[in-house]
Amino acid sequence: MIKARWYFKKLRLLLLFIILIIFGFAEGNIISNKNEIIVKTSDDFETPICEKDNQCVVGGVCRPDATGKKRCMCSSSCLMTVPVKCVQSNPVSCLTMGENYVSKYNTSLPYCHHNRCVCPPLYDPVPVKSPTPGVPFIPPFKCDKRELQIMLAISPADAVYKGTEATFYCCVNVDPRDFIPEEGVYFVQNGTRRREASTTPYHLFTTTDDSLFTVPTCWALSIANVQLSDSGTYSCLAQPLAANAKSLNETLNFTVKSKPFIFTVRKPKFRQQQLREQRKRRYPKKCKRL
Ligand SMILES: *[C@@H]1O[C@H](CO)[C@@H](O)[C@H](O)[C@H]1NC(C)=O
Ligand SMILES: *[C@@H]1O[C@H](CO)[C@@H](O)[C@H](O)[C@H]1NC(C)=O
Repeated sequence: MIKARWYFKKLRLLLLFIILIIFGFAEGNIISNKNEIIVKTSDDFETPICEKDNQCVVGGVCRPDATGKKRCMCSSSCLMTVPVKCVQSNPVSCLTMGENYVSKYNTSLPYCHHNRCVCPPLYDPVPVKSPTPGVPFIPPFKCDKRELQIMLAISPADAVYKGTEATFYCCVNVDPRDFIPEEGVYFVQNGTRRREASTTPYHLFTTTDDSLFTVPTCWALSIANVQLSDSGTYSCLAQPLAANAKSLNETLNFTVKSKPFIFTVRKPKFRQQQLREQRKRRYPKKCKRL
């Protein structure tokens, strides 16, 4: 009887051991599957196929990519690691999109076109360089005009206190030049009140220097000293130049809160001291002695 129980115990241990080994193998397999990086192509993202360069943003070019189908390439989608200036005589004078891009996406290599590097579209959101509360990133830059997207964001937050400052950002994901005019993006409050942007990307473009590392794509409406009447819904409208291009819009709610009441909280220590003093006044030491 005792011996049988002993055997049973051993068997149970053995079973547990076998199960652990099986699980270990399974987990190993799962891990190795996870490590296998799936390199995606522009087909996976349904990037539009182009025929002519004018379907691409300013300075863009319609060229076959890794899939053999023609897609727009442009300078505005070049990452910081790819300087835009290149030498036409040197076909490999443009750097690659970097390890992070190449490990995930198989599109086309940056290439020198009219003395400027053009790059494949981006698929990951672009982090905002100077930290702007409320605006963590902008949508990935594209090269085909048909991929236009807008993003509306409020900095520092979509609810602020009266008297503070708020900025509405309306950003597009393409180089706006020759596509979205300066006055083509504006804000509308409560569906009726049109409010013009206080700064536009056109303020940052210069006619001579075309080597901007990141193409500006945001229109901004800044309100210093916000009032309760600034509350409501805010829409950003973007109207491209082309007659057949449909306009885009995004809407957000914005709340202006009245200033909070400031309560002066007495420190408990102070309160205790006060009580002690009160007691002292009520029962003077003299009386106690008696
Ligand atoms: C990129 O994609 C093309 C088409 O799907 C394929 O033939 C090629 O081998 C891929 N290249 C790399 C480096 O993955
Ligand atoms: C817009 O609507 C909000 C909420 O209804 C209101 O508080 C605000 O005063 C309105 N502002 C204007 C200018 O119409």
